[in-house]
Amino acid sequence: MPLDIIIGTQWGDEGKGRIVDLLAAKADAVARYSGGDNAGHTVTVAEKIFKLHLIPSGIVHPHTQAFIGNGVVINPSTLLSEIDQLRQAGIEVHPKRLFVSYAAHLITAGHLALDRAQEAARGASKIGTTLRGIGPAYTDKVARQGLRMELMNDEKRFAEALREHFQRVNQTLQKLFDAEPLSIEPLLEEYLGYARSLKPYIADVSALLSDALSKGKRVLAEGAQGTLLDLDHGTYPFVTSSNPTAPGALLGLGLGAACVDRVIGVTKAFQTRVGAGPFPTEVFDQTAQHLRGSGANPWDEFGTTTGRPRRVGWLDLVLLRYAIRVNGISELALTKLDILSGLEELKLCIAYQANGKRYEVPPFGPTQLESFQPLYKSMPAWKENIRSCRHWEDLPANARSYIQQIEKLCQVRISRVSVGPERGDVIEID
Ligand code: IMP
Repeated sequence: MPLDIIIGTQWGDEGKGRIVDLLAAKADAVARYSGGDNAGHTVTVAEKIFKLHLIPSGIVHPHTQAFIGNGVVINPSTLLSEIDQLRQAGIEVHPKRLFVSYAAHLITAGHLALDRAQEAARGASKIGTTLRGIGPAYTDKVARQGLRMELMNDEKRFAEALREHFQRVNQTLQKLFDAEPLSIEPLLEEYLGYARSLKPYIADVSALLSDALSKGKRVLAEGAQGTLLDLDHGTYPFVTSSNPTAPGALLGLGLGAACVDRVIGVTKAFQTRVGAGPFPTEVFDQTAQHLRGSGANPWDEFGTTTGRPRRVGWLDLVLLRYAIRVNGISELALTKLDILSGLEELKLCIAYQANGKRYEVPPFGPTQLESFQPLYKSMPAWKENIRSCRHWEDLPANARSYIQQIEKLCQVRISRVSVGPERGDVIEID
């Protein structure tokens, strides 16, 4: 059964939206399976730029159905404003096209307040969250006191559950953080209003997708964040609170492993990260300015969700090998290769070193990285603008060697390379 999973191999922001867009053109359905509106996918279609945080970005293709799975946490206000944004751009969004799992959990104003209070209380050891209430919403889910979408089908039960939830949040805010409590009555009105608007979209996503797959329809699971932000497999505790890795797609959509066809990893040609946490190949000099950009272009390295400048560095093949392993990646898409044009020299981190020993993958996952020194292979760069390249042969020889080195050192096939910001700026490699 043809389920393709797209997953970022780094700390998010790999340019997955672009690869999703390409593959969604051939898919019947696109689905989000983890995270919430902490994600940000930018897709450019006919000079219109869409910044979507929650709705799968594949929805911009008129023939695809869009699904939000049980593994996602949903801020109803964001969902409704994205529905509006898409409709205003002439994209059809209605309950026969967008399906939201009854088992997905809600993010409320209470979770937002808790995220802010927790981050402030962490002081110097703060995680640098997106402040979208993600951690507190997943905490409630695991504590079995969360609010699921299905509650919206029963106004009375929803009102009761909301009241209990906001009372609990207020106790925590006041007793633990000495913070102002929330005003519950207006919030009840607000959330009951969201329920009336969103009720028609609530569906059994697992059943609908299983049925579609058994009929041979092609489904694309659209990963958010990235492998190194995975709660279990990332740079813990500097991670998000869900499982963006490929197995999270099955859990977050309610599907079995047998339906997976391809796991496509998306890797930026260099490394970026927002928020705190280890980053062995980080750079701070002129190279950093070149990689990050000034912020004047939509593709410069500033957060889609938060606007924060991203930390940048050289591509880390140690972490890439690890990502290939924990996701079971079958092929890679390399993005933003054009950004490397014009640098004097390129560096690839090919291994780590500590105490005189060499490591090809991190020995205990990617958490204790501070004691490792990156070992670099230096490579010549290229001066040419590569944005108009459409075939492998069009690329400068040094760009081809860079790609081949990654394939060789990670034992993986690179099937696509993006070379510019426009939808069509991609080289497909046979
Ligand atoms: P949270 O997901 O808001 O709790 O944030 C936890 C960590 O994940 C922080 O370092 C965030 O910057 C990072 N993060 C969450 N979502 C994304 C994303 O979509 N791209 C990049 N970083 C993210």
